[in-house]
Amino acid sequence: MSPYNVTIAGEIPVLEFGNPDYTMTTPPKPNVRRARQQDLDQLLALELLSFSGDRLSRERFRHWLKADNGLLLVAQSPSDGSIAGYALAFTRRDSTMARLYSIAVSPQHKGHGIGRLLLARAEQEARQMGCRGLRLEVAQNNMPAIGLYESMGYQRFATLPGYYEDGQTAVRMQKRFE
Ligand SMILES: CC(C)(COP(=O)(O)OP(=O)(O)OC[C@H]1O[C@@H](n2cnc3c(N)ncnc32)[C@H](O)[C@@H]1OP(=O)(O)O)[C@@H](O)C(=O)NCCC(=O)NCCS
Repeated sequence: MSPYNVTIAGEIPVLEFGNPDYTMTTPPKPNVRRARQQDLDQLLALELLSFSGDRLSRERFRHWLKADNGLLLVAQSPSDGSIAGYALAFTRRDSTMARLYSIAVSPQHKGHGIGRLLLARAEQEARQMGCRGLRLEVAQNNMPAIGLYESMGYQRFATLPGYYEDGQTAVRMQKRFE
């Protein structure tokens, strides 16, 4: 049977819009805001789902929640209030470039523009903090993340062999703000 519940009446296909599985609406846009202490459990759960190694611990999340140079953002689903994704960036006194330390979107929310939304907001806030651009490292086989960064104008400038716990090579990428 067709997934769109098309039935044939004579020669004319009829679309049955009453079918609850057939929806043309896009999910409502999440609210991007600074993370709070109450988000810690959900942030840790998301970290566990998203990465097999090099994970942020509860202590590191707690540190970045409070750090003056930290930028810990969450995307909150407007439907149920759950955390659909997060991004962590920070600034350093010895550099005009901010660093994107991590970004993750929960499996059920991937592919709906939330990664792009979080990264755009991190860029905007880094710019407001006086930074000239953003740098990051990404595993060279992480095609979804590299796709996101390239689509937002990031360029490769170095590789770091053996950078990750599992021995993977990292690609260093950066974007200079205009
Ligand atoms: C990387 C990640 C954050 C992307 O989040 P997302 O919300 O799914 O991404 P978006 O929907 O905003 O996609 C934005 C762009 O990224 C690229 N992209 C996203 N998923 C992709 C995939 N599976 N393959 C290739 N490119 C992809 C596309 O260019 C996409 O733009 P398009 O939809 O117009 O084609 C998400 O896949 C994730 O959480 N991965 C696990 C954690 C991780 O690896 N983080 C990066 C650490 S460096």
